[in-house]
This record gives sequence, C-alpha cells and structure tokens, in this order.
Amino acid sequence: MRVRIQGGRVIDPGSGRDEVADVLLEDGRVVAVGRGLESSEAEVIDASGSWVTPGFIDLHTHLREPGLEYKEDIASGGRAAVAGGFTTIACMANTDPVNDDPSVTDYILDQAKQDAPGKVLPIAAATKGLEGKVMTEMSALVDAGAVAFSDDGRTIMDSGIQRRVLEYSRLVGKPVIVHAEDRTLCGDGVVNEGPVSTRLGLPGNPAVAETVLVARDIQLAELAGAHVHIAHVSTAGAVDLIRDARARGVHVTAEVTPHHLTLTDEATLGFDTNTKMAPPLRSARDLQACLEGLADGTIDAIATDHAPHAVHEKEVEFTEAPPGILGLETGFAVVLELVRSGGLTPSQLVAALTSGPAAVLGLPVGRLEPGAPGDVLVIDPERRWTYDPSKGFSKSRNSPWAGQELVGRVETSFVDARLVYHADRGVLMP
Ligand code: DOR
Repeated sequence: MRVRIQGGRVIDPGSGRDEVADVLLEDGRVVAVGRGLESSEAEVIDASGSWVTPGFIDLHTHLREPGLEYKEDIASGGRAAVAGGFTTIACMANTDPVNDDPSVTDYILDQAKQDAPGKVLPIAAATKGLEGKVMTEMSALVDAGAVAFSDDGRTIMDSGIQRRVLEYSRLVGKPVIVHAEDRTLCGDGVVNEGPVSTRLGLPGNPAVAETVLVARDIQLAELAGAHVHIAHVSTAGAVDLIRDARARGVHVTAEVTPHHLTLTDEATLGFDTNTKMAPPLRSARDLQACLEGLADGTIDAIATDHAPHAVHEKEVEFTEAPPGILGLETGFAVVLELVRSGGLTPSQLVAALTSGPAAVLGLPVGRLEPGAPGDVLVIDPERRWTYDPSKGFSKSRNSPWAGQELVGRVETSFVDARLVYHADRGVLMP
C-alpha cells in the first residue's frame, strides 16, 4: 500500500526540513520526501494548510497494565496515544506486578502487539518491587525488550544503590530515568512550597527536593560514566544543574511535561485534585526556566507523564488524592500554545516531541527520511476543539483541561505507513 501525503508543511527537525513538500509512504516506511512527488496507485491525503511531522514519541507514559486496568490498560492508553499523535510511547514500570522481571516485560510487549495501534516500549524497574534495595537483572530485562530503567515515583534514596544502578546501566547500554525528588525533603508535601502552599494551608514540597537529587545523580552518572535521564524537570535550579553538567560533557538528558510548561502552582488555588502531580506545579520563574531550557537544548524532550487515576481516587481531599494527570490526548495542543506565545518555534516544538526523545533512547523513529519507519502525523494547528475526557480514549478523566477549548489537533496518525487514527473517524487499528 502506498500513501502520498501531499502539500503539507513538513516540519522534520531531525533532517533539518521545514518546507512545503510531499511525503510518500510504502511498505511500512517513508520512501521519499520532496516537492511534486509522483506515484501511481497511491492513496492521496491532501495536507495543504496542515503540518506534517514525524509521529511523536512519549518518554513517560503510565499504561497501568498489568494490574491497574481500572485506571487504564494497554489498549485504552495505546489508543489515547495515537489520538494525541504519540506513535511511540515508553511505559513506566509502576504496574502491579511491577515490571521488574522479564516475564512482565514480555507480557507488556505481547499485549501491545495485540491491543495497541502504536509502538509501546517498556521501561523496566531499576530495583525489585521499586523498593530501592535490590537491583533488577538488567541484562535479562534488556534482552526481553526494556529500553531504560526507572523506579519513577519511588526515587532511589540510597545513593550507594543508585551508584550501582548507574554502573550496571552503562554495561547494558540503557539510560536510568530518575524521578528526582528527595523523599526526606518532600515529606508529605502536596503542592509547591511557597506562597501558594501557605495560602492553601497545605504541606509544601520544596524545589530543593528536586535539585538535591538532580545534583546527586549528575555526579553519580559522571562517576559511573553512565547516561542519566531526568524525568519531568520542574525547577529553575534543576535546569541550571543540567545545563552546567552537559557543558562539561556529562551524559545527562532531560524531559519536561506540558503541565510544567504551561501551569503554575497558582492553578492549585482552587484545591482541584487534577492539579496535583509529582513533582508539583511550580512558580512562574520555574516555568520560564523550563521553557528556556527546552528552547536552548538543555532539555531534550517534552514527555506527558500521562498518569491515569480513577474518578473515585481523585474525588477526595487534596492531601489524599494520588498525584498525576492525563496527558496523551491533550499534550500537543497544550504545548502548541507555546508557539503562539512566541516561547518556542514550530521546529523547536516538533523536535522536543520527535528527534529529541528519539535521541534520548537511541530509537530509529522520529524523523522523515527515506527508509525511516512510516510513523507520520498530519496536524491542523488551527483546529479548535473542546476536550471532554469522557469522550476520549483513556479510561480515566483526571485532567485540568477538561471542558476547555484547545487549539491544534492531530488529524491523522500513521504507524508503519498504516492509518491508525483519523480525528473524525477515531482509532482504526488494530
Ligand atoms: O504525578 C505522578 N504520577 N508522578 C509520578 O511520579 C507517578 C505518577 C503515577 O504513577 O501516578
């Protein structure tokens, strides 16, 4: 089957392209990108007025399967992903059972093959049961298909163990993804420590809880010669530490979420539990520093931290609610606002969703060149739509953008040159 996506603005930072062109897909791959491409018997998609980009890559998704399918499963999360333009997603290990054993990694990959329209890459736990004590068998997990290691929300507090995790990760050639929160400093903090936590009368989670851990793990990665990836950076201090470390050649990469780029702790003033996440929303200064870090290349990727939780779990007191919000279906439209406000160029934005995350994991996706996998999006950057989580693909509803009008929408998603999503027809595969 051949498809010609015709006359769109092809934004492909991985190959330095931003121009009106056609993209030809065949046999699962991109076969040509250029102006006025001819091809007989191709299905033609008119993309004039639209953006054409590589499929997005999310480095940080919680799919909740196995074990927590009442929040999400691989089928529902996989559908939400392609609807939001994420044709490749890396899923976190905090399932039940935890993905700390090759049998769980195998299970996720088998289910994904059957149920998910896009590509699912399992991130394995760094320690057994996410307990921060005994390392997982990294080599066996990599053989099973793990692309990185992370204890995510359960930060490894024992620096000696973290050192060993980093040393072994280097031997197996995969990054360690760090949720940088010093648990002794966060305590039971549920919002950013500062004027907002004072006004709310809620326990604060200080910025230094993040920066202390980022500083530690940069030093440990440097010592081990390992690759550390800092998840969901939320503080100005962390951005500075990462920038300095990169300048001296430490292998540190980083991601930032759509919510930390667009919302501040002021959003929590209404006690809405859909503004509670870990790390918490921070100050306007932190937000600006994260945006600058993304624009200057200190931060490699925008990652959603899609964290589904059921309605009954979120409709409780702020202090009791689990942290986390949905991100796959709204992520692109939310960050597109940063282009309209002048914070990012279209090319910087698309890089943070494609070539940036692909480079973090060394993936063959994220660019549109002959021979590359046919993972392609057609995006209408002007389309207005109102987000209603109850009509979305996720099983959960926990979003601060529920009911809001958003601008910019993925119109079609192709995975391996197959149409898997169309905005008006829904998810079409598997
Ligand atoms: O907000 C969050 N939710 N942060 C995490 O680190 C974990 C995640 C979850 O699993 O719900």
